[in-house]
Amino acid sequence: MSAPIRPRSGAPYARIMGVGGYRPVRVVPNSELIERIDSSDEWIQSRSGIKTRRWAGDEETVTEMSLAAAGKALAHAGISAEEIGCVIVATVTHLKQTPAVATDIAYRLGAGGGRAPAFDISAACAGFCYGLTLANDMVRGGSAEYVLVIGVERLSDLTNPDDRSTAFIFGDGAGAVVVGPSEEPGIGPVVWGSDGANSGTISQSTSWEALRDNPEAAFPTLTMEGQTVFRWAVWEMAKVCQEALDAAGVEASQLDAFIPHQANMRITDAMIKALKLPPDVPVARDIAETGNTSAASIPLAMERMLESGEAAAGGTALVMGFGAGLVYAGQVITLP
Ligand code: UT7
Repeated sequence: MSAPIRPRSGAPYARIMGVGGYRPVRVVPNSELIERIDSSDEWIQSRSGIKTRRWAGDEETVTEMSLAAAGKALAHAGISAEEIGCVIVATVTHLKQTPAVATDIAYRLGAGGGRAPAFDISAACAGFCYGLTLANDMVRGGSAEYVLVIGVERLSDLTNPDDRSTAFIFGDGAGAVVVGPSEEPGIGPVVWGSDGANSGTISQSTSWEALRDNPEAAFPTLTMEGQTVFRWAVWEMAKVCQEALDAAGVEASQLDAFIPHQANMRITDAMIKALKLPPDVPVARDIAETGNTSAASIPLAMERMLESGEAAAGGTALVMGFGAGLVYAGQVITLP
């Protein structure tokens, strides 16, 4: 007979205890971009809802932005870096294949005395919700008492300023949350999945392999079949939102906030319609000033709603991320 293995279990439930964001200093208005893509401020605003975005300067690296956001999240949670039992970093714009940027962040933050387990995940604009899912399960499974989840991007590094379908969309920034134990359920069941058949719809233009074989090739940028992704988001992701509500046993009318990935204001509006969200439920519209910051967009929008008073601590919110992969994840949460 095999030796019995002693299992470990964690808290009955988990919740988000604190949130923090970092927005780069430089504000880039539409007017700075339109000439190269033969566009207009009016077109960009009406088709995407974006007025400005932030682009990181040389000093605002993935690590520095993450440390700033994480520091705020820890302070909000009232948890010390020492107490963090794992660091998860969701990003697709850390431009070094290995090691994971999470280890550098954990070390510099002093997470778990600088030695906390740390790893990156690549789930694009769903990265934050994927990380939240792992953190929830870790806290409940007993692998860590407190988990730091960071969504961070420097999308300006991978943006082609001459590409009409992407040049105006992306922005830079970082958002972080601390997930810890709770007596009440604070993170609902995740509804998540992928659609690899459509992996080419949002993609890095050139693989590292192709670049190795042809050093003359242009540095990679992100490409997107905008209309295809737009239709997928409007039709399929609204259903995922509803499934996440159903899984948590929460009605749309019971929500205190709706915080979808900030991909396009028109996608958000279509989701509101499909969910029959009552008009008095506050909806994150951070995209107007921040653009689409992929993995950072949901925690950044969450922080803004809490700081502005649009949503209150303890309220019930639906978060939902979707993007390159294609991948998606959504869950109902209690706001920190
Ligand atoms: O975060 C990951 C997930 N990403 C998303 O969810 C993004 C999803 N997609 C989108 O948000 C939208 O597809 C875009 C905002 C990227 C584009 O908006 P659209 O309404 O889908 O534009 P379109 O590509 O259908 O183009 C409409 C028209 C075309 O002109 P005609 O053929 O109607 O005369 C384009 O040539 O707008 C033209 N156009 C532009 N005009 C000015 C396309 N890009 C531009 C531009 N400026 N940048």
